[in-house]
Amino acid sequence: MHLTVLSRSAGIFTTRRIVEAARARGHVARVVDPLRVEMRLGKDGPGIFVRGVAYPATDVVIPRIAPSVSQYGLAVLNQMALLGLPVLNGVAAIGLSRNKMRVLQLLSASGVKVPRTVMASEPSGLREMVRHVGGLPVLVKLLRGNERSGVIVCETRQALESALQAIQRLGQNTVVQQYVRGVGDLRAFVVGGRVVAALRRRPRTGRLSRTLGQGARFERATLAAEAEQAAVAAAQVVGLEFCAVDMLEAPGGPRVFEVHSTPGIREGEEACGVDLAGAIVERAVELATATGAPVRKNRRASGRRTRG
Ligand SMILES: Nc1ncnc2c1ncn2[C@@H]1O[C@H](COP(=O)(O)OP(=O)(O)OP(=O)(O)O)[C@@H](O)[C@H]1O
Ligand SMILES: [Mg+2]
Repeated sequence: MHLTVLSRSAGIFTTRRIVEAARARGHVARVVDPLRVEMRLGKDGPGIFVRGVAYPATDVVIPRIAPSVSQYGLAVLNQMALLGLPVLNGVAAIGLSRNKMRVLQLLSASGVKVPRTVMASEPSGLREMVRHVGGLPVLVKLLRGNERSGVIVCETRQALESALQAIQRLGQNTVVQQYVRGVGDLRAFVVGGRVVAALRRRPRTGRLSRTLGQGARFERATLAAEAEQAAVAAAQVVGLEFCAVDMLEAPGGPRVFEVHSTPGIREGEEACGVDLAGAIVERAVELATATGAPVRKNRRASGRRTRG
């Protein structure tokens, strides 16, 4: 089969591993920078071109669209899907996964447990807010569209108030969340509805919390059935074939706090000794096979829509 990895560079660890895994399985894999793809609309329907030349034959697309190029990258992926190419992770699901508020809402409405959360556009009713999330300290998460956000631990109501005011003056949205302390932080990699690797992430000693992410250590984890089910359900609810689901091992069951549609696989592969890239490729090939006859010629890419 012919696989396209939509990624800014073939040198990125995950991209490189996917290409290696595809080639090791006898497939042809090509890395295409989404920013080099030109999309045409109008006469003859949608078409895609790379440097003016019709996009070459592809059977399946593996998107690795960085958040920094989300808008254009997802338009390219959308164009490919409109042309009938099977894509591992669709545009809608990737877009959704990059909106933390929407993901938390959807997970919660679908019965996947999330940390207690309040979303509000102004810091009024602080006392209520704190009560809802189970008391102090609380976590304030900054949400900045597609970029990486940030997390602030607030130990007092005053700290919370000033944090919220400052953030809102910057015109950013926030989420106030129960600070689930002293529990494990798990990341599960889900491929095709199955957990294929799981990690426990430990903060650097002496750090106030795991909020800082930096310096954390990763080790292989075996998930309890409940955590495994939560990860699989989260992937399904968001609609991702491949993703990483972040959870806290809270008393009373795991709490999902983030779903990544474009996670790096390095930690997963190195800490777990699992061929995650291989699992991704195999799932992509399975999807392409299930979607129908392999796409051969360029005609599809040059504009005719042959599959819905
Ligand atoms: N409700 C919570 N209670 C306790 N710790 C949490 C909670 N939510 C997140 N954390 C910790 O804080 C870290 C960062 O949170 P989160 O992933 O939501 O923010 P982020 O902006 O995506 O940061 P990062 O880029 O580091 O993942 C998590 O890896 C987790 O260890
Ligand atoms: Mg995160």
